[in-house]
Amino acid sequence: MTKQFDVLVIGGGPGGYVAAIRAAQLGLATACVESETYADPKGEIRLGGTCLNVGCIPSKALLQSSEIFHQANHSYVMHGISAERIQIDVATMMRRKDNIVGQLTSGIKGLFKKNKVTLLPGHGKFIGREEDLWQIDVAGEIVHSKHVIVATGSRPRHLSDIPVDNKTICDNVGALALSAVPKRLGVIGAGVIGLELGSVWKRLGADVTILEVLPDFLAAADGAVAKEAWKVFTQKQGLDIQLGVKINKVTHSNKGVSVEYDIGDESRTLECDKLIVSVGRIPNTEGLGADDVGLQFDDRGHVAVDQHCRTNLENVWAVGDVVPGPMLAHKGMEEGVMVAECIAGQKGHVNYDAIPWVMYTHPEIAWVGKTEQQLKSEGVEYRSGQIPFAANGRALGQGDTTGFVKMLACAKTDRILGVHVIGNNASELIAEAVVAIEFGAASEDIARICHAHPTLSEAMHEAALAVDKRALHF
Ligand code: FAD
Ligand code: NAI
Repeated sequence: MTKQFDVLVIGGGPGGYVAAIRAAQLGLATACVESETYADPKGEIRLGGTCLNVGCIPSKALLQSSEIFHQANHSYVMHGISAERIQIDVATMMRRKDNIVGQLTSGIKGLFKKNKVTLLPGHGKFIGREEDLWQIDVAGEIVHSKHVIVATGSRPRHLSDIPVDNKTICDNVGALALSAVPKRLGVIGAGVIGLELGSVWKRLGADVTILEVLPDFLAAADGAVAKEAWKVFTQKQGLDIQLGVKINKVTHSNKGVSVEYDIGDESRTLECDKLIVSVGRIPNTEGLGADDVGLQFDDRGHVAVDQHCRTNLENVWAVGDVVPGPMLAHKGMEEGVMVAECIAGQKGHVNYDAIPWVMYTHPEIAWVGKTEQQLKSEGVEYRSGQIPFAANGRALGQGDTTGFVKMLACAKTDRILGVHVIGNNASELIAEAVVAIEFGAASEDIARICHAHPTLSEAMHEAALAVDKRALHF
């Protein structure tokens, strides 16, 4: 008998699996198609997409392990703790990471069972439409569904003439699975992956050189944050980050990799043992049968959608990395929920102005809303309050006072327009700012909220007070 659903989701990453769970919760007969991209060695399909398998989760596991190793070598001593012969066993570190990935990916299968989402293993492809049902080919079988949600995600962008083998020249997949610490690591691209994974291997002992095409460092971040991050990464941590670089040639031999590049008028060569290519990601839209059904794309190859993630085709929706916007797991999840709720006749929405960004380097970098340079270029009058963690008792107790909290508020209404944090636990601290921006709060609202003492969150409180030039502890 033909399989028929109310909702068929193509892709089981954060956008897709969350859309499927929410649709099922709302009483819709739901299936999720997932291909074997991340199948385990036995061929078992793994849900969770890029995020769980080769992205957010494994990278954060390695960041944690490498940070502990770094602290044991460099920070324990200030607490009077000494340890000799601290060593890293990369195989154990990788096993821990793989176990976390395995636990979470199988956890999603459990969530599918609990919520009665049918998992359809195989590649999903549009075939056509019959009456009001879409026909999707899944591993040779035609499945019918009233609604289809495209959540096929993204993959790493590779550069022509730089062959990624994920052994010596790696994208995120290989960079998360190196079997030993390379002596010399080259990275092309000083974006989020370059800085996070560059940090992992630097902390473990690699000499890391990052080559970035743009002349500015972390151009998307607030200027003050980018400046502080540059200082910490290059001067304190010893990451060699070279800006305004043009890569000319990459050659690969059994001795390693040579990267020939220009910087200004100078030609240089970087010799390294491993090279990571992290120059952005591209949406997965091939093999979807999109042309056969007339699915439209934007000029950057993303599926074109409106503000509710509707495509040009009736009852076809798209979410996550495959549509325009930041390629972030939580953005895809929000879109998944919105679409499921819209399909169920509810008023789903995503506030794209309140999506936080986090880089899990050390110090962490997190922000929500506008940067100071954006407000200036938009001609918005604003007030700013900035508090260093050096003035925060908890940060001092933790022995980590790098960075600050910076709050930007409208000069006329006091509404918070942007919050930027660089420092320990910035990823957690930003949540308060996201709530504030989501609910249109003023800096005065944060200033009047009682923050527990001693906590890092007091720096958020003080930054709000500083907007009105009445910080109490700085
Ligand atoms: P994906 O996660 O890419 O999932 C798409 C799924 O669809 C895949 O499983 C794929 O196999 C499947 N698929 C594709 N085509 C088909 C088809 N035709 N039929 C069946 N199945 C198909 N984001 C954060 O928010 N925080 C982080 O800390 C973070 N860290 C990251 C670290 C790294 C190294 C990388 C690479 C990314 C990171 N990201 C992070 C980004 C995050 O992983 C993505 O934004 C997120 O995974 C996108 O979710 P998605 O569901 O749109 O797509
Ligand atoms: P990115 O867009 O963050 O950074 C790519 C960098 O490479 C940019 O600085 C770009 O200018 C540079 N670049 C591009 N072409 C180049 C060239 N030819 N030579 C030298 N430099 C070049 O992309 P990245 O780091 O690959 O990550 C992809 C996406 O994955 C991110 O944009 C983000 O959406 C997501 N991600 C999110 C994380 C998080 O939320 N913490 C962590 C890792 C990835």
